[in-house]
Amino acid sequence: MGLSVDVNTRLVGLLGHPLGHSFSPMMQNAAFEKLGLNYLYLPIEVTDEHLKDVVTGLSRMNFAGYNITIPHKVRIMEYIDRIDDLARIIGAVNVVSLKNGVSTGYNTDGEGFVRSLQAGTGESVKDKVFFVMGSGGAARAIGVTLAFRGAKEILICNRTAQKAHVLADEINTRVRPCSEVVPMDNEKMRLAVRHADILVNTTSVGMHPNENELPVSRECLHGSLTVADIVYNPRRTMLLQAAKDIGSKVIDGLGMLVYQGAEAFRIWTGVEPPVDVMFDAVLSGSHRP
Ligand code: ATR
Repeated sequence: MGLSVDVNTRLVGLLGHPLGHSFSPMMQNAAFEKLGLNYLYLPIEVTDEHLKDVVTGLSRMNFAGYNITIPHKVRIMEYIDRIDDLARIIGAVNVVSLKNGVSTGYNTDGEGFVRSLQAGTGESVKDKVFFVMGSGGAARAIGVTLAFRGAKEILICNRTAQKAHVLADEINTRVRPCSEVVPMDNEKMRLAVRHADILVNTTSVGMHPNENELPVSRECLHGSLTVADIVYNPRRTMLLQAAKDIGSKVIDGLGMLVYQGAEAFRIWTGVEPPVDVMFDAVLSGSHRP
């Protein structure tokens, strides 16, 4: 089917700088095409100094909304009318909807992780103990969302301990008192992971070109643990391979990428996202690492 654009086409975009290679346009456009929705997703490079002008301009055009990526996920909050509770606590917005002249910001990164976990393992978040490695933007989105969704405990460990304390304190005071910091000490990490049901690596450790690095030592892993990595290049990180070798369930980072987009699609269109089509689009656009 060819591309058909007319004056009624609802536009959606990705705002960031530099954009480089992104899976979002092919993933979203494949989904629109599959369902016959008259939408078009465009990559829009915008620098910091022009962000406000571009956002104002989009709100005067036929845009249903947009995604925001690096470096604007925090600053965008100054330019939109409403921010949903979860995004406000995470402190970053990756999706904006435009409806009847009102812009609303959401964060679907953490929800994308949760849905990926549920799809991959059948496990729910509720009453589970999570060990989260890292305290950057992705860890914030995942940690806050897990707390919102009823996780029993969220144990956070990070190279820079101060950032782990800030995140745990925010979860405890702004969502629910369920988070603790684990010092980056092998024995303390091992004991904490033994107590956990699900380990999540949110750091870039193990990502190409550093494929031979592990965010936690092998001794920390055990067979009854589910191990999730948000790194998707390579899909089978050294962490996931080590976990698989001892019989753990593993979840790779591609699911979070697709499901955060699927949740954005749902916000813009109000339609159930065709997740399989979105996975296929990402896989055919990647070099299948
Ligand atoms: P993102 O938005 O993807 O989460 P980020 O905000 O830059 O990216 O966060 C990166 C995370 O990976 C941080 O937790 C970082 O640890 P620090 O807070 O100590 O910087 C972690 N990280 C990156 N490289 C790391 C490494 N080589 N060893 C351990 N942790 C690392």
